[in-house]
Amino acid sequence: MRIILLGAPGAGKGTQAQFLSKHFNIPQISTGDMLRAAIAEGTELGKKAKEYMDAGQLVPDDVIVGLVKERITQPDCKNGFLLDGFPRTVAQADALKAAGVPIDAVIEIDVPDDVIVERLSGRRVHPASGRTYHIVYNPPRQDGVDDITGEPLIQRDDDKPETIRKRLAVYHEQTAPLVDYYRREAEQNPALKYIHVDGTQTIDKVEQEILAALEG
Ligand code: AP5
Repeated sequence: MRIILLGAPGAGKGTQAQFLSKHFNIPQISTGDMLRAAIAEGTELGKKAKEYMDAGQLVPDDVIVGLVKERITQPDCKNGFLLDGFPRTVAQADALKAAGVPIDAVIEIDVPDDVIVERLSGRRVHPASGRTYHIVYNPPRQDGVDDITGEPLIQRDDDKPETIRKRLAVYHEQTAPLVDYYRREAEQNPALKYIHVDGTQTIDKVEQEILAALEG
């Protein structure tokens, strides 16, 4: 099962990826988490990526494409993977296609901008695992700490209101065209499912709809 999750920042890609990754026993490949790990390690890639991420801009395509191509050749991806946050531009989608990587499903999680701002301002993250919570909609069992490790949760640097607005503008300009891109691909290729989900429903309902569409 090779899946792409598509949606605006804060649409719930990471939240659903955690569930789907467990359900299908395939790794979640989050380019955002990979870049944040590189920043935490202080690598050259991390230093370069941080400038773009703090500004709400996309990291250059060549950097990301190289990272993802390398990641999906690793042994844990042999039965499939879940791409969370990639591709994010038409150039990235073209690179994936040119690399001959077959995709079984593209899942679009559709959420309007006003809901996104509320979601991202209430998001809390466990940095080591990428596990995501929301102070109202998906609270941790104990205030301020991760359910599994008990370690502190943080608010991401790019979840400030002015950066959220920039990320949304970048999404509409550079990533939203992928909706039509993959709808067209699915029309031409019966092996590819295009699944559109209303992401304003509860987390459980979104999970159920995705699962029904994937397994139906
Ligand atoms: P990345 O980390 O990928 O961020 P993003 O796409 O902006 O997505 P988010 O992680 O913010 O949101 P999400 O959709 O995963 O939502 P979540 O499940 O957390 O990228 C960060 C940066 O890295 C980019 O800006 C860019 O600079 C760079 N980058 C990454 N990939 C790149 C690429 N391919 N090319 C170039 N640059 C790249 O949910 C959000 C909140 O809502 C949570 O609190 C959650 O609990 C809550 N929630 C989720 N679902 C629901 C629901 N149904 N109801 C109520 N609350 C919900």
